[in-house]
Amino acid sequence: MKYLFFWVSIFFCIALQGQEQTLQWQAVAPGVWKTVIGKPDQVNPLTIAEIQPRLDALKKLTDLPFPQILAESVSEITDGKTFLRFPLQRQEQLFGLGLNFKTVQQRGTIKTLHVDHYNGTDNGRTHAPVPFYVSDKGYGVLINSARYITVYAGTTVRKTSTNPPPEMNRNSQKDWNAQPASDAVEVVVPAPGTEVYVFAGATTMEVVQRYNLYCGGGTLPPKWGLGFTHRTPTLFTDKQVLHEIDEFESKGYPLSFIGLEPGWQTKSYPNTFVWDSSRYPQPQQFLQQLLRKNIRANLWINPYLSTSSPILKAMEPYTASHKVWVGYVPDITIPAARNLYKLLFSQQHLKIGVSGYKIDEVDGYDNWLWPDVTKFPSGISAEQMRQVYGLQFQKMTDGWFREINTRTYGLVRASNAGASAMPYVIYNDYYNHKDFITALCNSSFIGVLWTPEARSSKTAEEWLRRMQSVCFSPMAMLNAWSDGTKPWTFPEVASQVKEVMQLRMQLLPYLYTSFAQYHFEGKPPVRAMNLVEGFDYEATTEKGSLNSTDNPYAIAKKQDVKDQFMLGDFLLVAPMFAGDIKRKVILPKGKWFDFYTGKLVGEGEVIEITPGLERIPLFVKDGGIIPMIPAVLHTPGKDDVLPLKVHYYGERENNWTLYDDDGETFDFEKGNFSWTTLSVKKDKKGKLTGSDLRVSGKNLHYNNLKWQFMTVSK
Ligand code: GAL
Repeated sequence: MKYLFFWVSIFFCIALQGQEQTLQWQAVAPGVWKTVIGKPDQVNPLTIAEIQPRLDALKKLTDLPFPQILAESVSEITDGKTFLRFPLQRQEQLFGLGLNFKTVQQRGTIKTLHVDHYNGTDNGRTHAPVPFYVSDKGYGVLINSARYITVYAGTTVRKTSTNPPPEMNRNSQKDWNAQPASDAVEVVVPAPGTEVYVFAGATTMEVVQRYNLYCGGGTLPPKWGLGFTHRTPTLFTDKQVLHEIDEFESKGYPLSFIGLEPGWQTKSYPNTFVWDSSRYPQPQQFLQQLLRKNIRANLWINPYLSTSSPILKAMEPYTASHKVWVGYVPDITIPAARNLYKLLFSQQHLKIGVSGYKIDEVDGYDNWLWPDVTKFPSGISAEQMRQVYGLQFQKMTDGWFREINTRTYGLVRASNAGASAMPYVIYNDYYNHKDFITALCNSSFIGVLWTPEARSSKTAEEWLRRMQSVCFSPMAMLNAWSDGTKPWTFPEVASQVKEVMQLRMQLLPYLYTSFAQYHFEGKPPVRAMNLVEGFDYEATTEKGSLNSTDNPYAIAKKQDVKDQFMLGDFLLVAPMFAGDIKRKVILPKGKWFDFYTGKLVGEGEVIEITPGLERIPLFVKDGGIIPMIPAVLHTPGKDDVLPLKVHYYGERENNWTLYDDDGETFDFEKGNFSWTTLSVKKDKKGKLTGSDLRVSGKNLHYNNLKWQFMTVSK
């Protein structure tokens, strides 16, 4: 009997352990489904981000049923871990799975998603290891867990597969493949349970929109956040900062906010968060002086507390067992710890005019951060804390600015799922220009923003190329904290650098509207080509350097398009890199025009360009409407009204809506904004005219609208 009981128990354990369960999905919002497997952890990215799904906007997207491809998804809990399997079709491509720097297409990769400073390999260790993948077959899958999740994105072959790859003989078959086709994405969550979400979309873009809208809609930065920003050397004094601001002004280089690096404090690494009176004797006066010049200030911080910080004593009970740079690590999942930060930061910074933070070193490297053996007073494991710390810090600081009805826009080095609504841009120290552009493309799938910062360069050419790229990104930042490089440091290219910085300022109305689309519709401001309508096409014409048997789309697939992207609805950006004099540009379906001249450059084809050093290649889609203001030195304030010149490209009729609001507060969330319809129609003779200026809502800061038709028909 005793033995029988023993064998029955063993049998049961084995039976339960090996049992796959088909996932049962529940609709949680239009086009969004959720399943709960086992016992999920209390902490997960979406809870930390306190997401507020935008149901109104989700309803406006295509009404779709649950994606059939995923109907046979399964889970299994074994060995305290959750195994997941999601079917994959042969011709399917996957995107996302964190902020990657090398490739955009992720099918065939294996990653262990782990918050870290990116170190040159797309292995999952990155600043935003968002466990979300997007399929080009119209769905996305989010594993809402704060664990180090391993994802086999189409690399595994099971005995029981119903669609297995054929066995081949390498001895005799030339097309033997080291990576045989897989029919699944398989996932290991090292915890006995997790939540999983599915997002549907009629297009890849719509999947991303759904994800962003479910996470609260994309962030809408204050207008000054989209101007140019410069970070000063770490031990600068107030006078040196003011002198530098004056230099920008007198030399005619735009500047909207300035960043102070660690030395603004009495001690750093670890930090006091208190102004150093030898460098900043009167911080309030200093900040007010900046504000009068229409310049905001951003403070560098990392979270780690010095014994000299006034809050250390009260904070100590809420800190972790291990230190970082010998500084105390507050457990910010505990409200009391957050309150202590708030007390100090409000008093020392927000109340006297600080506009935002650069939240540094919440990512890694391992040698710097707390180890996984660390204990936190909340009881949350070090692993989970690492996955959500940056996210929680963003949420906490954003909340302080919300309370004073002031928008912020800052920098952060770690993020995760649910971050779409966070007013933060990710950056790092990796400094590879090409890979920085790939990261820009990848950021668009996972609800985060990225800046390919410029900080220094070996040559004038590299300097100009980097400054050109940064001006077409979510944050136009010169991060000169170390050697003090200035925009004009290389005299040979100083005027070209100025020109691209000015262009950034002229484009503010277009950029701001692109961010409004992120907020209201979930469309990211920077868009990988795989998100762009008409990119997935069969060629009808063959021109340029390709021979007639080439199919541009096949090339696009092979190449993994990671060096060009769209900014907003109309602008295709094709950055140049130091050493290159020519490049290929893949133009999606339809006609495309040169931004600077308005001339037709191609139509649904691959073109080769030799653009010269002066300018970054920019192309505009047929019907492109690009509203521009004069090249101002500072971002316009909430009472400024500026003339608007609307540049129009192409030959067809089109219309587009321009967004505006006060640019500073959260009143837009209460409906205090305007949408202006800009439309172009053909008159009886077929001549294009800009007309129909229809404004809905209030708060418009443009007048004297003029049209400029860039494409003059022959
Ligand atoms: C780095 C950061 C740099 C700079 C520096 C200051 O970790 O990425 O941008 O802020 O710290 O110590």
